[in-house]
Amino acid sequence: MARKSQTIALLIFFVAAALSKTSYATVISTYWGQNLYEGTLKEACDTGIYDIINLAFLNVFGGGQTPSLNLAGHCDPPSGTCVIFGEQITYCQGLGIKILLSLGGAAGNYYLSSQDDAQSVADYLWNTFLGGRTSAGPLGDATLDGIDFDIEGISNLYYDDLARFLKEKSESVYLSAAPQCPFPDYYMGAAIATGLFDTVWTQFYNNPPCQYSDGVTDDLINSWNQWTTSINVTNLFMGLPAAENAAPSGGYIPVDNLISDVLPVIESTAKYGGVMLWSRYYDVQTGYGASIKSSTLGDGLVSSS
Ligand SMILES: *[C@@H]1O[C@H](CO)[C@@H](O)[C@H](O)[C@H]1NC(C)=O
Repeated sequence: MARKSQTIALLIFFVAAALSKTSYATVISTYWGQNLYEGTLKEACDTGIYDIINLAFLNVFGGGQTPSLNLAGHCDPPSGTCVIFGEQITYCQGLGIKILLSLGGAAGNYYLSSQDDAQSVADYLWNTFLGGRTSAGPLGDATLDGIDFDIEGISNLYYDDLARFLKEKSESVYLSAAPQCPFPDYYMGAAIATGLFDTVWTQFYNNPPCQYSDGVTDDLINSWNQWTTSINVTNLFMGLPAAENAAPSGGYIPVDNLISDVLPVIESTAKYGGVMLWSRYYDVQTGYGASIKSSTLGDGLVSSS
């Protein structure tokens, strides 16, 4: 009897110690699809570095256009060769990785011309890539977890409607957005303000007023604090370049500085969700994501206080 309660007391002690002194590895998302030399989607998933992967990009849609994928050299959408990624998507999801389709990007021809147009794009996405899919689509037999908005041009109109129409299809459609750090984002401010996004990974790079520069974190952290206090979202991620040449207009943070000077600050703020890296290609070159993951992984857990 005494022995048993001693054992239980010890157990409680260890569980309590584990809960109070540990935190889990940094959650990391990335973009895959814009460079053949980044390797396959399956290879990216097998690294164990990423928790969420955005397929980049669906860069033609809206205005009655036939929507079209651009996955750089990985496959040729018009001839249907991107269906090979269906199996890889399903494989990655089996590892617990969320796979999202990213709309937009820096180049393409996309815009929404009316609420009706937003509704037809929502219908197309739902029926082609999401839960409404009934036959193989451009990405084969895979059903994606959600949609990422990386709207960087042409028009800022009706994206709030698109977000609403997608969530009306099903609450379980995961929605993320990748705005620029100057607040609010011109293209997606209204969409983000709907409060319908599960995650926002703000791009704190290529934007000198709100990025890290030469060891100085002030502009970056001030902007982070503005985002975390101003938007209605569950998870805010810090979007960063995975290599110096991934962001021609700056914002690259050497990984040691990120780990010692930035992560400890943002991890303690409300809504902190993780780190987004642009992109898988650059991450292959530098091992940036692996360094973050291993720094916070330790023996699987690290001290947080
Ligand atoms: C956030 O947005 C959701 C969805 O629109 C809404 O239900 C909720 O009330 C909002 N929360 C705040 C704090 O504004």
